[in-house]
Amino acid sequence: MKNLKIITLLLSILLLISNYPTHHSAATRRIPQQEDIETIKDTVPKSPVILVPGFGGSRLDVKLTNFKSEHWFCHTNEDWFLLWLSMDMLVPVFAECSIDYITLDWDGSYPSNKEGVEFRVVSGIEGVVYLQPTFHFENYFLNLVNEFKNEGYQENLDLFAAPYDFRLSPKNFTLYFNELKNMVEYSYKIDNKKVNLVCHSMGCKLSTFFLTQTPQEWKDKYVEQLITIAPAVAGAFEGIRTLLFGNNFGDDILPNKDFKTLSLSWPAVYFNLPYDDTLWTNPIAIFKDKEYYSTNEGFHQLFTDMELPEKAHQLLDFVWDDNQYIKNPGVKVSILYGYGSDTHSQLIFKDKMIDGSIEYIDKSGDGVLLEELILNYCEQWTDNTSTSCQGFKGVCHQCLVSNKDVIKSVVGRVKQQ
Ligand SMILES: *[C@@H]1O[C@H](CO)[C@@H](O)[C@H](O)[C@H]1NC(C)=O
Ligand SMILES: *[C@@H]1O[C@H](CO)[C@@H](O)[C@H](O)[C@H]1NC(C)=O
Repeated sequence: MKNLKIITLLLSILLLISNYPTHHSAATRRIPQQEDIETIKDTVPKSPVILVPGFGGSRLDVKLTNFKSEHWFCHTNEDWFLLWLSMDMLVPVFAECSIDYITLDWDGSYPSNKEGVEFRVVSGIEGVVYLQPTFHFENYFLNLVNEFKNEGYQENLDLFAAPYDFRLSPKNFTLYFNELKNMVEYSYKIDNKKVNLVCHSMGCKLSTFFLTQTPQEWKDKYVEQLITIAPAVAGAFEGIRTLLFGNNFGDDILPNKDFKTLSLSWPAVYFNLPYDDTLWTNPIAIFKDKEYYSTNEGFHQLFTDMELPEKAHQLLDFVWDDNQYIKNPGVKVSILYGYGSDTHSQLIFKDKMIDGSIEYIDKSGDGVLLEELILNYCEQWTDNTSTSCQGFKGVCHQCLVSNKDVIKSVVGRVKQQ
């Protein structure tokens, strides 16, 4: 990762000298149009696959109109350009502007983009294959997409992606869920084959939210199965670290600085907090004889004692109710997960809560999700057969998506249809 950082820096400087920022014309419609399939309509389509990426797994474009930045060196007016994941997001000084654009405002009821800032999601498979298109790294669904292509899959015919603005939470996804529903129906109608949803991490929590709010007849008609890769359905401990200490979402190549302000403003971070106290039976944090549980009340108490701003309390309440829709999705589910890596399960404050020393209690997991929680979902959500859940020893949360055994398993499950 150190090397990558240096390469990143050099490439960024190069990029800045050549053309800054990188404008590109992104297709923004999620559902393909007739002309997209004209050229491929003679092929017999396979059982369709829709990829639902996780937190940070969609490319985002930004446009600035009379934006007033905190920094003099940031842009004020700029036509659409890639922000996530742009090269300047990766370099400390330039990251400050990007962080400024991507941070959300909160008016007490809803999150919104800062004044003068517009966002759009880059649609299509390409946007989830590489997050960084110029230099093709931070590859995400690349290996999985390639494997589907080896099997004869083609984008917009039987292979689709449903990226989203991953800063937000279900209350801002009404339109997205509607588009996802249309995408499922659209891909089904191409050859009357039921659709396979393949999700990663937070994408699985959203897919679940979507499915539990959809009528059973609709699911029976259109959805073949939900294949979850490292499903973050019960939240992740990482959410706490991000809120309390501004950790850079576990991504080594993002600078740590300023991520706290940013993450405090994103509903998704609260939506990804551990939430199910029947599963998280141990306190998520402990200070002396004080215990904090993964309940709404427990988090309010923790936020108060950590002196987080009032906004954090409001955002917690803004997302919390949405957790009630995270239950058995009512379709065939497979769970592919990692285990055997140290994964935080509990935070111990040693001497004092603010700026004191801390310690984590680790258990087996994929570095982000705990194995014991996943196994619980294996019992509650799958058909309890030995094939519905598959563990991959030592494969990390992000690594699962690119791991060749996981990919083989995903493609195998789809091909069984
Ligand atoms: C979230 O939804 C609210 C209500 O529809 C809207 O006012 C707000 O602009 C949305 N936020 C973003 C960032 O899209
Ligand atoms: C799986 O087994 C558990 C325990 O035996 C049971 O409670 C659960 O309902 C089963 N799940 C399904 C979907 O059959």
